[in-house]
Amino acid sequence: MAGQAGQAGQAGQEQRAGRDQEQADQDRVSQDRVSQDRVSEHYFTASPAAAHRPGLIQVVLPDLHFECATDAGVFSGGRLDPGTRVLLETVPPPPARGDLLDLGTGYGPIALAMAARAPGATVWAVDVNERALELCAANAARAGLGNLRCVTPEAPGLPGQFAAIWSNPPIRVGKQALHEMLASWLGRLAPGGQAHLVVQRNLGADSLQRWLQAEGWPASRIASRSGYRVLQVAAR
Ligand SMILES: C[S@@+](CC[C@H](N)C(=O)[O-])C[C@H]1O[C@@H](n2cnc3c(N)ncnc32)[C@H](O)[C@@H]1O
Repeated sequence: MAGQAGQAGQAGQEQRAGRDQEQADQDRVSQDRVSQDRVSEHYFTASPAAAHRPGLIQVVLPDLHFECATDAGVFSGGRLDPGTRVLLETVPPPPARGDLLDLGTGYGPIALAMAARAPGATVWAVDVNERALELCAANAARAGLGNLRCVTPEAPGLPGQFAAIWSNPPIRVGKQALHEMLASWLGRLAPGGQAHLVVQRNLGADSLQRWLQAEGWPASRIASRSGYRVLQVAAR
């Protein structure tokens, strides 16, 4: 009896600790959004008004090296985002064939890596930011990758199912918009397909994992490095 009461007490404490952590994650995201609002427009604006500031970065991975043109008004225009690097260095190889998705492609580093690692597949690089999509298309051409399509989420011709989804998702759109976006695209995972998402621990990676599990998506953490988590999500 005492053992059960002890266990119930401990379970209650763990639940409270989980809720506290989730609240702390949310507070941190809100604070982050507020400070970003003060600094500049969001990188997920459809048509960024920021004056162009063209840049060129080298993306050097253990198996790949490509150049990417970047600009102001797109996510992490100055360097390969450290979370994106963690994803690209830890994710298992993509399926060799079929339709693959990079959700929120930005200037395209994830989509380009997917396309280079799976030359027999078609990679759909999806973003709402038109400046980012233009850069992504130019970067694919520069890298000689013909198996990449850079499109908005509403583009006709987008497949109904994807064999794999990789994403560094836009946490800053807010929790509800993020959840809606993920639920809609994860719903397009083909049976047996997997998604890999990289999320900063301080921006709610663990609460996102709990939300995915609560919604019935088998989600596990396959890597944790430099403050980022890589979540693997299976089709449900
Ligand atoms: C964290 S950034 C990652 C960019 C790029 N994949 C990288 O790793 O550098 C997330 C991207 O999602 C895009 N995004 C925001 N809302 C979106 C939506 N509803 N559908 C698709 N992409 C969206 C943003 O414009 C942004 O480029």
